[in-house]
Amino acid sequence: MHPQPVPLVASASKGLAGTAAIPGDKSISHRALMFGAVAVGRTRIAGLLEGEDVLRTAEACRAMGARIDRQGDTWTVDGVGVGGLAEPGQVLDLGNSGTSTRLLLGLVAAHDMTAFFTGDASLTKRPMARVTEPLSQMGARFVTRSGGRLPLAVIGARSPMPITYRLPVASAQVKSAILLAGLNTPGETTVIEPEPTRDHSETMLRHFGATVRVVDEPGGGKRITLVGQPELAARDVAVPRDPSSAAFLLVAGAIVPGSRLALPGIGINPLRAGIVQTLQEMGADLTLANRRVEGGEPVADLTVAASALSGIEVPPERAPSMIDEYPVLAVAAALAKGRTVMRGLAELKVKESNRLAAIARGLEANGIRFEMGEDSLVVEGTGGAPPPGGGLVAAQMDHRIAMAFLMLGQATRQPVRIDDGSFIDTSFPGFVDLVNGLGGKIAKT
Ligand code: S3P
Repeated sequence: MHPQPVPLVASASKGLAGTAAIPGDKSISHRALMFGAVAVGRTRIAGLLEGEDVLRTAEACRAMGARIDRQGDTWTVDGVGVGGLAEPGQVLDLGNSGTSTRLLLGLVAAHDMTAFFTGDASLTKRPMARVTEPLSQMGARFVTRSGGRLPLAVIGARSPMPITYRLPVASAQVKSAILLAGLNTPGETTVIEPEPTRDHSETMLRHFGATVRVVDEPGGGKRITLVGQPELAARDVAVPRDPSSAAFLLVAGAIVPGSRLALPGIGINPLRAGIVQTLQEMGADLTLANRRVEGGEPVADLTVAASALSGIEVPPERAPSMIDEYPVLAVAAALAKGRTVMRGLAELKVKESNRLAAIARGLEANGIRFEMGEDSLVVEGTGGAPPPGGGLVAAQMDHRIAMAFLMLGQATRQPVRIDDGSFIDTSFPGFVDLVNGLGGKIAKT
């Protein structure tokens, strides 16, 4: 799907202004397709993200018997019912998408079938033992490459067993994989998360008619219990616009002098919106208006205008609510006054790239001072003066590294180049045109 790298160059913008129509939320889009695929009847999805990752999920669900179509702006899913998936005839290729892989492994693990999963050069490096371990306890069997990596084969359990599982890492993907396996499992499946992570699966499971109980754990965590083998009924789903995609424009709007942007209809689930709070604490002129609930998820209209930013200490316990936003937060930090201290970043090393290292290399290439630790990053900002720039950043098959450094280039003295922007389409199709339409400066080289 990525025959040619797409090198891009970002140059200083004179200000970004206007209304940014951010695409649909990636996490919620994956879940809408998957839950629709195992519901009875026709699910209609408005605002689905048409990014490559989500299209991989759609393709995999089709390969297992769901009918998925696009009718105008609405996507329809004719589901097969809980337990009704069919064995796919071909290898499921999930491209760059960890969410597709881990959640679908959960679905398949509780079906009496054998399936083969693979992905691109980024995805085949990522750890899958975090899901195969609990799914094995439920009765599934796996043959993986060394280190628990893709390609892998899963032999789903004929008689899946419910488990109670305490997550060793804060991961919504692992939680969701277990809950998806719990759908076709008798009895109650319980996940205990020491730190709360995004709860889109829990919200959407309830929306489709499942019983999900959530109680607080001592120490701030949650205990989530799904009653197995529910009859899921097809539902309409309205997907909010993705706060993780919005974050790139929020940062550009904050750091490029003269900017003023409106971002309507952005998801502000508190388990996702850590970047909003963090930018506000740094002094960003960032406001939320017209708060409402759409499709069970909190949404607001955001505006951002350029302002002076100050470095802060980001509380490590906030990391799960902004785990995908550290690359672009590092860019905001590069323009802030003083040091921005980010800790608790170990999970960044197992994203689409080793994001901690990729951010550090990108900052270094562009003359920005920083200290990188085992799971921390401290960025020394310029206090608003344009950083040098002039570097070539290796995007490492990672959409968020590419977009973050293209935003940096909007505010540097010399242009910032990235070696390959093709992976931006995994989560944010139309990103370059959107940014340029608002007054940004990104060009092909
Ligand atoms: C996601 C969870 C997070 C996040 C990813 C999407 C999800 O991953 O980084 O982009 O949709 O559940 P982890 O579960 O690995 O933290």
